[in-house]
Amino acid sequence: MTKPLTTAEIRESFLAFFENKGSKRLPSASLIPNDPSLLLTAAGMVPFKPIFLGVKQPEVPRATTAQKCVRTTDIDIIGSTGRHLSFFEMLGSFSFGDYFKREAIAWSWEYSTEVLGLDPDRLWATVYRDDDEAAQLWEEETPLTAERIKRFDEADNFWAAGPTGPCGPCSELFYDRGADFACDEPDCSVGCECDRYVEYWNLVFMQYNRDEHGTLTPLPNQSIDTGMGLERMAAIMQDVASNFDIDLMRQLVALAEKITNTSYTGSFDADANTDTALRIISDHARSVAFLIADGVLPSNEGRGYVLRRLLRRAVRYGRLLGVSDPFMQQMTDKVIDLMGEHYQELLAHRELIAGIVAAEEERFLQTLRTGLSYLADALAALPQGGELSGAAAFELHDTYGFPVDLTLEIAAEGGYSVDSDSFEQHMDQQKERARGSVQDVSWSSFGGTHADIVQEFGATYFEGYNTYELDAVVLAIVDQDGKRVKKLKKDQQGELILNYSPFYGEQGGQAGDTGSISAAGASNGKGAYFQVTDTRIKDGLIIHAGTVQRGSIAASESVTAAIDLKRRNLIRRNHTATHLLHWALRKVVGTHVTQAGSFVGDTRLRFDFTHFERLTAQQLAEIERLLNEKIADDLPVRAFETTYTESRELGVMALFGEKYDEYVRVLEIGNTSKELCGGTHVGRSSEIGLFKITNEESVGANMRRIEAVTSIAAYDYVTTLQEELLAVATTLKASPRDVHAKVTTLLESSKKLKAQLKEGGAAASKMDTETLLDRAVVTKTSDGSYKTVIASPENVTAGDLRQVWDSVRQAGADACILLTADCATKKTIYLAAATDAATNAGFHAGQQVQQIAAATAGRGGGKPAMAQGGADELEPARLQEILAEVRAHCMAGS
Ligand code: ALA
Repeated sequence: MTKPLTTAEIRESFLAFFENKGSKRLPSASLIPNDPSLLLTAAGMVPFKPIFLGVKQPEVPRATTAQKCVRTTDIDIIGSTGRHLSFFEMLGSFSFGDYFKREAIAWSWEYSTEVLGLDPDRLWATVYRDDDEAAQLWEEETPLTAERIKRFDEADNFWAAGPTGPCGPCSELFYDRGADFACDEPDCSVGCECDRYVEYWNLVFMQYNRDEHGTLTPLPNQSIDTGMGLERMAAIMQDVASNFDIDLMRQLVALAEKITNTSYTGSFDADANTDTALRIISDHARSVAFLIADGVLPSNEGRGYVLRRLLRRAVRYGRLLGVSDPFMQQMTDKVIDLMGEHYQELLAHRELIAGIVAAEEERFLQTLRTGLSYLADALAALPQGGELSGAAAFELHDTYGFPVDLTLEIAAEGGYSVDSDSFEQHMDQQKERARGSVQDVSWSSFGGTHADIVQEFGATYFEGYNTYELDAVVLAIVDQDGKRVKKLKKDQQGELILNYSPFYGEQGGQAGDTGSISAAGASNGKGAYFQVTDTRIKDGLIIHAGTVQRGSIAASESVTAAIDLKRRNLIRRNHTATHLLHWALRKVVGTHVTQAGSFVGDTRLRFDFTHFERLTAQQLAEIERLLNEKIADDLPVRAFETTYTESRELGVMALFGEKYDEYVRVLEIGNTSKELCGGTHVGRSSEIGLFKITNEESVGANMRRIEAVTSIAAYDYVTTLQEELLAVATTLKASPRDVHAKVTTLLESSKKLKAQLKEGGAAASKMDTETLLDRAVVTKTSDGSYKTVIASPENVTAGDLRQVWDSVRQAGADACILLTADCATKKTIYLAAATDAATNAGFHAGQQVQQIAAATAGRGGGKPAMAQGGADELEPARLQEILAEVRAHCMAGS
């Protein structure tokens, strides 16, 4: 058998080898783990965590995968070594309570020596300190002798997916690359940090679960999780110095060289800045392309931030190599070309990746441009070698989004320093502020009081999922100023805390309930009556805020608490519709859509979600239709409690970054949406009645908002639109169904009329010109003759007079004298103008205007060919008189 050499060949040979051992070949899982405790998929075992924990039954006893992974814990050293990559592929073999150490060890040896053809004399193994069993198995199953089986402690040979979860001792395989790769340390051996002994395969013997306190408990089944770094193995097989020299990575580095017009030398010296930058660009391009393909969008938190950081880091290193134009899209395109065949999601999202990368890079370059000019000004204001204040560095970071390491770098280049301590202080203060601003100020002053109440009585029991009215006891009362009081009197505002409550306190986007809390006899118009205008949750207490409308309410009193059920019904219709909307969005728009915020009130709902462009009318129509279909399907809506872990297996949607208790409440709508939710919902989808989207808009980068209405509000919305339509129909004297056709016809005919009017106007003005010309006076002089139009055009302003001259000249006049009243100001305006023929024959426009100016007590003058003037308003009769005089003069030839 020929040895696999390329990354593609190694990947395939590994999967085929384990398939032959009875393992099922499974596709790589998404980089977004189905597990809110993890940011990203960083190992082959991540998708199998629930199976190792024993909470999910495996579908097969053995599996093998090539899992795409992103690890950024060591982002700062990526680029400076040949081994670290932010994106890599892990070739894995897994046993779920099936084969254990012996097979894992024997097969790793078989694959290494027989398939990859690695020289057995170059292989070493390590085992966990006291794992005699593993050490013995290496000796039994392979030619390795005791000296080549090293023992290490936890740091090296105990593997865990994270601080908690499945874990176990591990055994690693090392390949000795030979003395050429060795360092100078005399005791250089397996475990040395240099490049000689490469750890290429980790066999984890999954035996324990570790809890938050660090306690290990045995797992129900002993399992195997092995992982081999594909790129590392390719470097060994291709006998190249680093991961960046293997077939696949070298092509990316080559493109980076071309873009930056530099050459890669493969050096890892501390000052090999160009090589480091080329490696960073090539590595980060892979993470960026794969993250976007799996639905991550740039943002300022969570995995969106990881993506943004990687992209920006690559762009910055590109700039360091002198590239100022966007270039990352070329890199990610190349990643797609190189890896799309095996990872089809890259091909499927080529345009999405290109669009996101281009937009994000442009945004960052803009940030850099603004920040750079701010920084340049700030540095210029300093004395040579001065120190930039922490406040300025913070301003750059906070207002311009300008990375502080870049500030440090640029300052250092110019020989300046930065007050980093003060910068850190500003950062800390900002964090404090951020913490403070999370709390609603209007309620925060009550802090201590509520904490005391909950200490005394414990949390309020919420009974309001199915109960809307119940008898309870007033445990405590807080007045308007946040002070604990015994009693609230008529017209006083304050808060009541009860032992049990049917009121839902504002939470998870759902508005708080309103209603009443009343003492016995209230229904007869006697007894105390407290109107609840808002309900919130604080420190585990349900806080009913409102006003005493009648009587007075005292602590320890028995009361009846009743919510406004009509309002609650509207709210829960909107809440269930919000879940359906989330589900429909993911179905129609894509699974990268995740909830970013929501508001569920009684008259409307609002849903914010991650997406990068405007939804098309077609998508919106499809979503609306899908929802209304599910409403009409009368699906059962079921809420149930389960453990958090179990909910993950059921594929329940949870919000990333939220902390959930061990027991969670799942809300399931037929076979559609499944989400963790503590809110109140309808019993069947048909109760929602009708769903209509009223608005879709952008609310920030990669964030969109849909507003919608349901039930009676949807009816009102549609009715209003219908009324508008009817009003239009009545005006058009058409039936509503014919409105569109009729409006189209009307618009067409209006267009035609406008065209006709234009033609008519032209004809009209032509006619005017002809009339004017008819009244022209022909003057004969010794030097020739000329035809002068002497007229008082109507409906003109001073600015129009030249146009009148233009048209009469075109129609054959040699000169004109126009005298009229400005139709806007009523002032007297006049203009005289002449062609060369007329001036040659003795016409002088300037003199004509002067004469008129004298006659009208106005001003004016000009050249022989053109003159203008004006005077105050004159009687129309006086104008005609003057005009007649002018005409007489002309006829007389003077
Ligand atoms: N899960 C093991 C690792 O990531 C194989 O190294």
